[in-house]
Formats: sequence, C-alpha cells, structure tokens
Amino acid sequence: MSAAADGSAAGDLAAVRAMFPALSRSVHGKRLVYLDSAASAQKPSAVLDAMDDFYSRSYANVHRGVHALAEEATAAYEEARADVARLLGAHADEIVFTSGTTGSINIAAHSLVPTFDGGEIVVTAMEHHSNFVVWQQLAKRHGMALVVIPVRPDFTLDMARMRAAIGPATRVVAFSHASNVLGTINPAKEICELARAAGALTVIDGAQAVPHLRVDVEEIGCDLYACSGHKMYGPTGIGALYGRRELLARMAPAWFGGEMVHEVTIKETTWAEPPMRFEPGTPNIAGAIGMGAAARFLRSIGHGRIAAHERDIVAYALPLLAAVPGLSIIGPQAAEGRIGAISFTLEGVHPHDVAAVLDGHGVAVRAGHHCAQPLHCMLGVDSTSRASVGIYTTRDDIDVLVRALSSVREVFG
Ligand code: ALA
Repeated sequence: MSAAADGSAAGDLAAVRAMFPALSRSVHGKRLVYLDSAASAQKPSAVLDAMDDFYSRSYANVHRGVHALAEEATAAYEEARADVARLLGAHADEIVFTSGTTGSINIAAHSLVPTFDGGEIVVTAMEHHSNFVVWQQLAKRHGMALVVIPVRPDFTLDMARMRAAIGPATRVVAFSHASNVLGTINPAKEICELARAAGALTVIDGAQAVPHLRVDVEEIGCDLYACSGHKMYGPTGIGALYGRRELLARMAPAWFGGEMVHEVTIKETTWAEPPMRFEPGTPNIAGAIGMGAAARFLRSIGHGRIAAHERDIVAYALPLLAAVPGLSIIGPQAAEGRIGAISFTLEGVHPHDVAAVLDGHGVAVRAGHHCAQPLHCMLGVDSTSRASVGIYTTRDDIDVLVRALSSVREVFG
C-alpha cells in the first residue's frame, strides 16, 4: 500500500484514500494534508455508513427491549464488541465498551487501586496524562508510591530502570504501548513478563498502538489494555477496555447505575457478569457500532500492510525532516521500533507558530505538550510540533510538509 515506485501499491493507497471523504476537501484553498491522526484519525465511509444505518434503520436502546428494533440494536452492539475483540485477539466477554482510553484507564485504576494494601504503582515518564494523572492521584489517596521510569537519551524506555523497579512492592505497571509524542514502541511483552513474575498487574495504554500495530493481548500477556475508537478511524466518545476474563470477574465496578447489576435490594446490590458490570446506563450504542466497523475496516486492510506502509512513510519522512535547518526530531531517529507520531522543534519558532504557518499551507499538525507534560519537562522543552501519519498518508503529504516547514523558516527567520 506504500506510495513507493510500485504502481499497484500506489493504486492501493489511492483506493484507501478514496474511502475517507474528508481527504478530498481543501483548506485555505490548498489540498488538505492531514498529519494529525495521532490526535484523531479521519473516518472511512464504512464507519460513517454503519453509524448512519444504525440511526436511520435500527435505532433503539440495547439489552432492554423485546421488540424488533431493540433486538437488532442489541445484536449490532454485541457484534461490534466481537469485532473489537477479534481486532485485539480477545474474547468478546473480555471487552468493555467505555468512553475512550481515558475512560478505560479510569475504570481500571478506580477499580484496582482501592484493593491494594499499599505498595507501588510503576508508570513511565512518556505517559499521556490519561495514563499518568489517574495513577498519581489514586496513589496519593491510597498511600501508595508512584515510581516513574525515565526515558533514555535515544528516546526509548530505560528498561534497566524498569527491571530494577519492578519487585515485590509493585502492584501495577501502567505504560503506553506506543508514545503519542516520541512514537517509541515499548517492549510490552517483556514488561508484562517482568510484572507477572513479580505478581503485579499490567495496564497498557494502547491508544496510539491499535491503529498502527497488530495487537494481540494474549500474546502480549497483559491484564488490561485500553484503546480509543477515534484514533483507529472510528467515532469519538467510544473506546474499549480489554480485561483478562478472570481479572474482570473479580474486579468491582467503578461506576454504578442500571443494567450493570444482577439484583438490587434496599440493603445490597450484586453485580452483573463482565463486561456488563462495567457498562452502567445507556451505552454509546452508535459509537460502539462505529468502533466495530472501524475494527472490521482495519482487519480488512490488515495490520501487516498498514505497518509496512506507515514504516515506509516514516522512513521517507525522518531524513527529510532532519535536513530542515534548525529542526530537531524529538523521538527515535529511525523508522524501526516507532510509530509515525513525529514530534519536532524548530529553532527560534514556537510550535504554535509552526502549526499556524503549516495550516496556511493546508497542513494539519498538532502543537503543544500533547497531554504529556512530565515528558516534555524531562526533555527540557515546553512544547513541540507533531506530524502524525495514518493509513492514508502519502509521500507527497510529507513533501508538502517539508516544503511548508522551509517557508516557516522564511517567515520567522
Ligand atoms: N491523545 C491525543 C494526542 O496525543 C489527543 O494528540
């Protein structure tokens, strides 16, 4: 699917791009060059159509009615759960629909931390706030220590420090599968093995991994794995929390309400089996159906092709970006072992100014601390610009970015 010399591959890429209606629009009179997929990815027609079809034809609440529409809606919702499970290598009853990665990690943390009798929570310095603040705050509330594993000068996780940190006092190790700032892919399987050997649980933030890498939760050996619909070409407001079946069965719910109960009396309540136990209230049904369609879309393209295409784009982009005068890439300098979230600084120009000038060229990037302030602080930079690639990114997109960056230098130089 790469846009490299191979004509059929270029044809494949054109076909993939044609599935995304937004990519054919222009901004400020220029072709849209969408390099902000790490913030949120564009949506293919398959996702839009699935949601439109649900709202237009089969709309009803789920798990509550016996009429035809309620049954159709329930079947579509549960099929979506099975689709997400297949994408992650899990069983359907191990997938909890949530509001997104942040919601998933909050459910995990609020359910687990009160059960710990002291001890340590291990996180990394490269976490998004969604996988940092909740552990920091719950550690404080429950008298636990927060251990933060640093990042090495080559922007990889300091695994020597991770090995040294995980021990008998560790209760949970929470880490991102791939960093939203550095692009670094962490050795998830190895970290899970270390945690398991120490009797600790693992919670993985997979928001940036699922759209780009083949994820198999059983192969990784994690206990809990969180991801978002909107980053994997699905809708906003929906995500998933995978939990090992035995673990979910002994986890108490963090939120309470209807449909997550077995029986309610004046004095007591017993819980429904997972995953319903963790889905109180009317869920985001259309969102789940959209996320299911996104999971089918990703599987239909195949993560082998997705990873190969994105690796080609990143390998093409990195040297071109590194050659822009004054530009420093904040992340691994080679395409291997990383995803295509490429953060950088441009000497003498604030990242927000970089993003604003690029926008004038039709190029969408993100600027700021990317919800990873501890990482930026550790790196000694307030903020960065970030170009992030997706399934639809072309080499031409990168060429436009690089040309536009040169003009940033002209404006501010
Ligand atoms: N977490 C998203 C990002 O990194 C919003 O941009």
